[in-house]
Amino acid sequence: MRGPSSFTKDSFLFKSLQVTIRSPSWSSRSPSQLRQYSLGPSKMAPRDPNTLSNYNCWLTRHTTVDFKVNFEKQRLEGSVSLKLESLTDKESKEIVLDTNFLTVTSVKLDSSEFPWEIRDRVEPYGAPLYISVPDGVTKGESVKLDIVLETTSKCLGLQWMTPEQTGNKKHPYVYSQCQAILARSIFPCQDTPDVKSTFTFNITSRLPVVASGVPVPSDTAGEGEKLFQFEQKVPIPSYLFALASGDLAFAPIGKNSVVATGPEAIDGAQWELKGDMDKFLDVAQKLVFDYQWGEYNVLVLPPSFAYGGMENPIFTFATPTIISGDRQNVDVIAHELSHSWSGNLVSTCSWEHFWLNEGWTTYLERRIGAALHGEPQFDFSAIIGWKALEDSVKLFGDDHEFTKLIVSHKGVDPEDAFSSVPYEKGFHFLYYLDRLVGREHFDKFIPHYFQTWARKSLDSFEFKQTFLDFFNGYGNEEIKERIAQIPWEERFYKPGLPPKPDFDTSYVDSCLALAEKWKQEEYKPDAKDIEPFTANQTLVFLQAVQDFSPSLSAERSHLLGTTYNISSSKNVELKSAYYVIALKAGDKRELPGIVELLGGVGRMKFVRPLYRHLNAVDRDLAVKTFEKNKNFYPSTTKSQLAKDLSLK
Ligand code: BES
Ligand code: ZN
Repeated sequence: MRGPSSFTKDSFLFKSLQVTIRSPSWSSRSPSQLRQYSLGPSKMAPRDPNTLSNYNCWLTRHTTVDFKVNFEKQRLEGSVSLKLESLTDKESKEIVLDTNFLTVTSVKLDSSEFPWEIRDRVEPYGAPLYISVPDGVTKGESVKLDIVLETTSKCLGLQWMTPEQTGNKKHPYVYSQCQAILARSIFPCQDTPDVKSTFTFNITSRLPVVASGVPVPSDTAGEGEKLFQFEQKVPIPSYLFALASGDLAFAPIGKNSVVATGPEAIDGAQWELKGDMDKFLDVAQKLVFDYQWGEYNVLVLPPSFAYGGMENPIFTFATPTIISGDRQNVDVIAHELSHSWSGNLVSTCSWEHFWLNEGWTTYLERRIGAALHGEPQFDFSAIIGWKALEDSVKLFGDDHEFTKLIVSHKGVDPEDAFSSVPYEKGFHFLYYLDRLVGREHFDKFIPHYFQTWARKSLDSFEFKQTFLDFFNGYGNEEIKERIAQIPWEERFYKPGLPPKPDFDTSYVDSCLALAEKWKQEEYKPDAKDIEPFTANQTLVFLQAVQDFSPSLSAERSHLLGTTYNISSSKNVELKSAYYVIALKAGDKRELPGIVELLGGVGRMKFVRPLYRHLNAVDRDLAVKTFEKNKNFYPSTTKSQLAKDLSLK
């Protein structure tokens, strides 16, 4: 694809993009150097290896998207306008943006035509859009790029549904999922968390729209196409761009919060969330500081959604599997809400330091849980997390790059590196620091850290420096001595499991004791066994049984499912954990239920383990089920499953 005339020379800047910085002296840079860097990368090579953009030379300051939602053609049509600030003094003669399977028909620079082209794809990062700026631009001044575009049928960041695929089967639906590097399949951008931009959304649709901005009231009364406008005045990285449009109803769940979902499901969704929303917010604000975004709302998506939740500002997107009718899965909302500070306000600068988003968020989520359900709740969820970490390490192998806290992403698709490791290893690193300095003192560091880095992006070395600066200047000699002993290199780069702390096991003991009983063939279960358990305690029990060696027999597995009523439970978390036991036990009676679940849910946390175990028991059925449902799954679920089943 080419613009008015093409380029003749190769860009030296583009070549410099291929360099990743990982100098050993990196961590010893002075705080003032660090600060300078975080304000704007200037001419240094980009530290994010997963973007093709030259964001070291230009910085997006504002993004305006004007899109019409075309449900019939299943595409967005319109334009994006980027305000880009020059970081070099006329040295950079071209702007490079990320795109992936986009149709671009016109590019204007300050309203004039300049040469532009979309170059060859660089897998897995897409095809860079080059725009010539022949005279360069003075440092600190800005240009405006207007790009006319359409998304394509290969768009990875949008999930389109026909009316038949939705809850009430009346209207079509579309939702976006941009994390990690899919925003570039919706509009050309500097698709890196190291760049933050304010946003204006102008979205025209015949159905209600939500987005990751605050709604701006507009005269949209009447039938047919309407314009929905939103403003995001806090600068956000591209991966937090989000929109959804469909037949949506809205209901209050807190002082400043609503839930949105299909009209047929709105009452259930409201009940599930309204008991906890404001409590979560209260605790989080006390732990860190005031919520900075205005509203906090939740959109409950159709069941194909690949994740439990996605922390899109203003509207967290969530899987309907959290609406289980028992308020037992709302910790997902505590998690997504926590991202309002860790990830959204303070962001990792690249997917190599993803733990800064997810480890911090997991830590805050568990602090919220402890504040609301008692201190042992913190270790209870940490124990569940430890099991997930062990499973990930086992799956990758304990010397695998992806089991490190800082993961090299050069040439890597961040989707492939995704696992529990950044969550749990990140959590354990923070938990270790928390205990090292003492809770009372760590609690003073939390707001300091988030204030220092608010509206910026950082890497692990900047985190380290901020931590050391804070406690070296804290006036407590004992803490100073302790933090001098932190083995940073080992914590950052050693693969495999981190040191295991002594957990408070008071909430898991009864679950594990029940699992022990099941090791005896003659144990006669009773529905009462699990009556005192919360759903998460039942989960701990099921996970322990999953690990039995030898596995339960098919008969005993069936007895477990029926006695405890799990095979008929509405709680997908429990049901899928039980199905893993059934598959390991080779209990064919559960196959229809498993196949049904795989066709009704797209959340990777559930479907990936189920497919893996089904594949081991009955490969034909696994492949057949995948082929039947693959277009129901979002791009991420689909491509990960294809890899898990060796179909790719
Ligand atoms: N940001 C993640 C989801 C995500 C990660 C999307 C990477 C795309 C790429 C979200 O905050 C998350 O962690 N969701 C979890 C919730 C759980 C930990 C409570 C999930 O989906 O399971
Ligand atoms: Zn998260």
